Amino acid sequence: MSYVVWDESMSVGVPVLDDEHRRLLDLFNGLLDSGITPDNREELSGLLTSLRDYVAVHFAREEAMMERGRYPGLEGHLAAHRYFAGEVEKLARDIEGDNPTMLRMDLILLLKDWFVDHIQQTDSRYKPYIAGAAGR
Ligand SMILES: [Fe+2]
Repeated sequence: MSYVVWDESMSVGVPVLDDEHRRLLDLFNGLLDSGITPDNREELSGLLTSLRDYVAVHFAREEAMMERGRYPGLEGHLAAHRYFAGEVEKLARDIEGDNPTMLRMDLILLLKDWFVDHIQQTDSRYKPYIAGAAGR
């Protein structure tokens, strides 16, 4: 089941970034689908590691593009990315704990409230700056 499906309202106008956002949503949906219980810690930690690694790759690309496009909101955007990366680290630690229901709630909140909102609000602000820089 897909909890959040990418649609045009999430497009940032740069195909490679849209692709990465879609892949990140897939990873989130996969985590939520995996049956979050203490019995499948290994699977969960593998999925969360994939999410964390892909987030790092994606943020690095997005940040480099914002820099090249001389996006004036770069500092605030970097802080938002650091916050998100920190939350993913916390989730990784929570997998070791005994409360999978909390982990699920945290994931849903992070997916819906933070990530989707980040794409639609925060990422959309850099559109005019990086659209032209994307091919460079
Ligand atoms: Fe971003």
